[in-house]
Amino acid sequence: MHKDFLDIIDYSPEELQALLDLAIRLKAEYFAGGNEPVLKGKTLAMIFQKPSLRTRVSFEMGMEHLGGHAMYLSPDEIGLGKRESVADVARVLSGMVQGIEARVFSHQHVLELAHWASIPVINGLSDYSHPCQAMADALTITEEFGTLKGVNVTYVGDGNNVAVSLMQICAKLGANFTIANPEGYSMPEQAIETVRPITAESGAKLTFLADPHEAVKAAQVIYTDTWTSMGQEAETAKRELVFPPYQVNAQLVSEAQDDVIVLHCLPAHRNHELTDEVADGSHSRIFAEAHNRLHAQKAILYTLLKG
Ligand code: CP
Ligand code: NVA
Repeated sequence: MHKDFLDIIDYSPEELQALLDLAIRLKAEYFAGGNEPVLKGKTLAMIFQKPSLRTRVSFEMGMEHLGGHAMYLSPDEIGLGKRESVADVARVLSGMVQGIEARVFSHQHVLELAHWASIPVINGLSDYSHPCQAMADALTITEEFGTLKGVNVTYVGDGNNVAVSLMQICAKLGANFTIANPEGYSMPEQAIETVRPITAESGAKLTFLADPHEAVKAAQVIYTDTWTSMGQEAETAKRELVFPPYQVNAQLVSEAQDDVIVLHCLPAHRNHELTDEVADGSHSRIFAEAHNRLHAQKAILYTLLKG
């Protein structure tokens, strides 16, 4: 039993599958009339150092659907590590609420929160990873293909936080993961090292390429994300010059498998990393994926906060 949900890599394939099965059950239960109020009397503090639509709304609604309450704490209110140390924030909240969700700049801050808090801490995105997103992505792929095992997932673009968590869940659940990124924009070596032993055991393939066209040939899932993540705004102009060959457009999608689906964690920068034609076309599952944040989040909240 884990106290926290910080990274996909911390969970075994069986534990991740159990979370996915629970998300599927909670989703069905919700649409059949509503979820049981298993988190009645429980409050989640939501710390946001960066903007959010999906993460904030899905955690807040997730708590409400499960009978609990969520409290939004804006960057100005908390001043994490500035007005007050991370350790003190964690220890104060531990005596007042039953769980913490945190969206931070530095991954170190979410690790520190988890270290000092006696209550569950959930990583709602850091500069290193976005594990809650990966759970919704796995749910969406499962709904489409019935499984992740043996599915060819190709990520095209920046080797960022979203790519890291996607790679980790693919490795854990047996999907073949390919990434095509420009030189200088690979995932951190440390992240790649986390999955090598897992794929060696499971037999899932891991492929690193520079050419997006080669990368999508066998793809059943094409995934992309922004070229400039939150916190990297000063690099926008430089990145806009490097990334255009990695745009997911109709031509690139036509080079993949016929049944390919296109995913994006959103927010999308339309006609930059993803064209309108693809985002709104028949291969796109971007809104189903966004909606699945709610159901995946509920499985995490249920598992960590129910007690
Ligand atoms: N995908 C995602 O995390 O979206 P938000 O930044 O809007 O939460
Ligand atoms: N990679 C993006 C994801 C946003 C949900 C970012 O960190 O800004």
